[in-house]
Amino acid sequence: MAITKSFSLFSTVIFLLRITVDAQNYGTALQDNFYNSSCPDAETVIQKAVFAEVDKNLKLAAGLIRMQFHDCFVGGCDASVLLDGNDTEKTASVNQHLRGFEVIDVAKEAVEAVCPGVVSCADIIAYAARDSTIRLNGTGWAVQGGRKDGCVSFANAAEEELPPPTLNVSQLIDLFAQRGLSEKQMVILSGSHTVGVGHCDKFIERLYNFSETHSTDPSLNSTLAEQLKKECPPRNFNTTLEIFMDVITPGQFDAKYYVGLTKQEGLFTSDQSLFEDSRTNDIVKSLIDERTFEREFGKAMRAMGAVGVKSEGSVRLNCRMNNE
Ligand code: HEM
Ligand SMILES: *[C@@H]1O[C@H](CO)[C@@H](O)[C@H](O)[C@H]1NC(C)=O
Ligand SMILES: *[C@@H]1O[C@H](CO)[C@@H](O)[C@H](O)[C@H]1NC(C)=O
Ligand SMILES: *[C@@H]1O[C@H](CO)[C@@H](O)[C@H](O)[C@H]1NC(C)=O
Ligand SMILES: *[C@@H]1O[C@H](CO)[C@@H](O)[C@H](O)[C@H]1NC(C)=O
Ligand SMILES: *[C@@H]1O[C@H](CO)[C@@H](O)[C@H](O)[C@H]1NC(C)=O
Ligand SMILES: *[C@@H]1O[C@H](CO)[C@@H](O)[C@H](O)[C@H]1NC(C)=O
Ligand SMILES: *[C@@H]1O[C@H](CO)[C@@H](O)[C@H](O)[C@H]1NC(C)=O
Repeated sequence: MAITKSFSLFSTVIFLLRITVDAQNYGTALQDNFYNSSCPDAETVIQKAVFAEVDKNLKLAAGLIRMQFHDCFVGGCDASVLLDGNDTEKTASVNQHLRGFEVIDVAKEAVEAVCPGVVSCADIIAYAARDSTIRLNGTGWAVQGGRKDGCVSFANAAEEELPPPTLNVSQLIDLFAQRGLSEKQMVILSGSHTVGVGHCDKFIERLYNFSETHSTDPSLNSTLAEQLKKECPPRNFNTTLEIFMDVITPGQFDAKYYVGLTKQEGLFTSDQSLFEDSRTNDIVKSLIDERTFEREFGKAMRAMGAVGVKSEGSVRLNCRMNNE
């Protein structure tokens, strides 16, 4: 009787512990060095492939950092963004300029050659994002592994879940909170706009006929505004033209994005609002410190990389399609 009772108490405690652990990890236990016994060379092989591909076209590095965001915010970090098909996430207009898919393919082939069927595509996205920041002179972070790949991907889910650049701070805070991410983590993750580009259509509303009182967004630096007007004329602007988001050090993964915000040089409303809004202004200022930013960015990418992770699912053999 006593044994049964304490046993059942014991299993209740274990059960509750498991629920707590599961809740923290959104359904599965992610781990550092996840492949250390099942595929000890996985991280090295992936990094080598990512470095080699990104060195051929450095623009892809920013694409791969963005890839983790666009994967994790739509149905969790499950590589759904990689699936090919008529109406999958990658066909959505928000993903029109998303790039780096071929880099994932090369990394996947390389890791399949050493450990067939072991490393998930969702994990490869997380490693590739980290390795890309290292290639842009960032410091990197330890990436957790253990995600399973999902099997569904819908364009309209991407359109609904990913933010347009016109969002204000309230909307951004809400969107990140829905994934268990804090307003501080939202500001830190926005710091990835320290690399990469945007297109004219994403900010043109800030340049012309902005409001009844201001033809140009008053929170946009007037020197930068004049330059952007030349690059993006009101009509028939060049839709393929790429505009740097961090004009101070566009190719460096550093904290200069936040310095730019203090000079009203944020390219999108969603960037500049972080400095203008009293809820996030102090966070922006604290992240100007390089070491603080690098440390906090890694921590925030680990948190974003745990959103909606699946413990059930497959390890796709080809990241673009489900296994037979
Ligand atoms: C906070 C809300 C966010 C909004 C509204 C936003 C919006 C955008 C937009 C509109 C672009 C440019 C698209 C184009 O015209 O080509 C862009 C690019 C980019 N975003 Fe974000 N983003 C956000 C958060 C993030 C996060 C959390 C990350 C990663 C952690 C990220 C990483 C990037 C990168 C690296 C690029 C450049 C891509 C390239 O050069 O190919 N963004 N983002
Ligand atoms: C692999 O890494 C995990 C987590 O860091 C650790 O608990 C485990 O002991 C490691 N296994 C080996 C074989 O190194
Ligand atoms: C996409 O649609 C076309 C025409 O409807 C069809 O032939 C093709 O098989 C579809 N592709 C996939 C991957 O579903
Ligand atoms: C990284 O820094 C080194 C040394 O300062 C520099 O030579 C290199 O060009 C930088 N890499 C990038 C991508 O800017
Ligand atoms: C943010 O935008 C929403 C939707 O347009 C609006 O209702 C809200 O008042 C705005 N909040 C702030 C603080 O600007
Ligand atoms: C701005 O608004 C005016 C009056 O509505 C219009 O004539 C003009 O074409 C608009 N300019 C742009 C760039 O949209
Ligand atoms: C548009 O921009 C792209 C990319 O910078 C450039 O290659 C192309 O020549 C531009 N097209 C026109 C018509 O200026
Ligand atoms: C606008 O940008 C220029 C160039 O970076 C800078 O010197 C100036 O202080 C900025 N203006 C404002 C209001 O921050």
